[in-house]
Amino acid sequence: MDMGDANELLEAHAHVWNHVYSFIRSMSLKCAIDLGIPEIIQNHGNPMTITELAAALPMLNPTKACDIDRLMRILVHSGFFARRKLDNDAQEVGYVLTNASRLLLKNNPLSVTPLLKIALDPFFLKPWQVLGTWFQNDDSSPFVTAYGKAAYDYCGHDPSVNNSFNGAMASDARLIASVLIDKCKGAFEGLGSLVDVGGGTETVAKAIADAFPHLDCTVLDLPHVVHGLQGGNNLKYVGGNMFEAVPAADAVILKWIFHNWNDEECVTILKRCKEAISEGGKVGGKVIIVDIVVMDEEKVSEENSKTFETQLFMDMTMMALLTGRERREEEWAKLFCAADFSDYKIIPILGLRSLIEVYP
Ligand SMILES: C[S@@+](CC[C@H](N)C(=O)[O-])C[C@H]1O[C@@H](n2cnc3c(N)ncnc32)[C@H](O)[C@@H]1O
Repeated sequence: MDMGDANELLEAHAHVWNHVYSFIRSMSLKCAIDLGIPEIIQNHGNPMTITELAAALPMLNPTKACDIDRLMRILVHSGFFARRKLDNDAQEVGYVLTNASRLLLKNNPLSVTPLLKIALDPFFLKPWQVLGTWFQNDDSSPFVTAYGKAAYDYCGHDPSVNNSFNGAMASDARLIASVLIDKCKGAFEGLGSLVDVGGGTETVAKAIADAFPHLDCTVLDLPHVVHGLQGGNNLKYVGGNMFEAVPAADAVILKWIFHNWNDEECVTILKRCKEAISEGGKVGGKVIIVDIVVMDEEKVSEENSKTFETQLFMDMTMMALLTGRERREEEWAKLFCAADFSDYKIIPILGLRSLIEVYP
């Protein structure tokens, strides 16, 4: 670039600023959640003026009431709130929720707020501060550089981190389970038994067990995760290690598991899954995966570039917190082949993620 061209110089400068200050999008959103703004607007029922919103905010220092307008302005810009006229004739406008902020309501059963809370918690942000250091040391992840042990070991020793992490996973499991049952019923029809490997606490298996009362469901997770959890008629929790053994079943589902692990670890898990669906010489069976299939860069366009960028954010998150990665189709195919599976089908119906069926 010719730095003599003022327009190009200023464009580059604006690009840098936009990236340097991008964190303000997340932090403004976190602030709105901390203050309970989505709930206040929902309870109000009608478009809520800034004066009404400021008056309804508990403990708001009155000298800061005018600053709430500034917070709302950036959140309108990023699509979390919208402005509506109070009524057809009036000039005055009030704030309403959008689909995105409805998804952050704490009483929404599909709320994404628990995930937002851990993603933006200073504890989980610390590994990002040492990303550069990690590139120069021998640690397995920046999380290890920050805290001296791997994320799942840390969760095993710290009940508060463990609970926040499991709560965030559970909120995502509820959302995906509702879509799976709505859009992918066919994947579970005809099965007699299913194991949800690394199913967490409030699991996909629980929703599937309710939707398919004749399907025997088992959740396998680490002992400290499933400790004390009660199953139901067709649901049980088993503490164990997926690298060692997976209970036998017609099918195994793994949601948000493989992206946590490196290729070698994934092949080991896949082999344990293959043994589980082939136990006793059974033929058939399948492994069902819910994870990201990263888009081909050549297919990225203006319409889908946000999806691609979000997939890259998740890939970097896996690098910062664990030893995993998000994978392109060829990378998934390599893993399936290395674990001796014969075929797979990618069903891209879960937004940023896909359903992948893998056959022995
Ligand atoms: C990213 S979370 C996904 C949880 C759940 N499948 C979901 O999507 O909500 C990964 C899960 O794998 C579990 N996990 C980690 N290591 C494991 C192991 N060795 N054996 C079984 N589960 C494990 C964790 O405890 C955690 O619940």
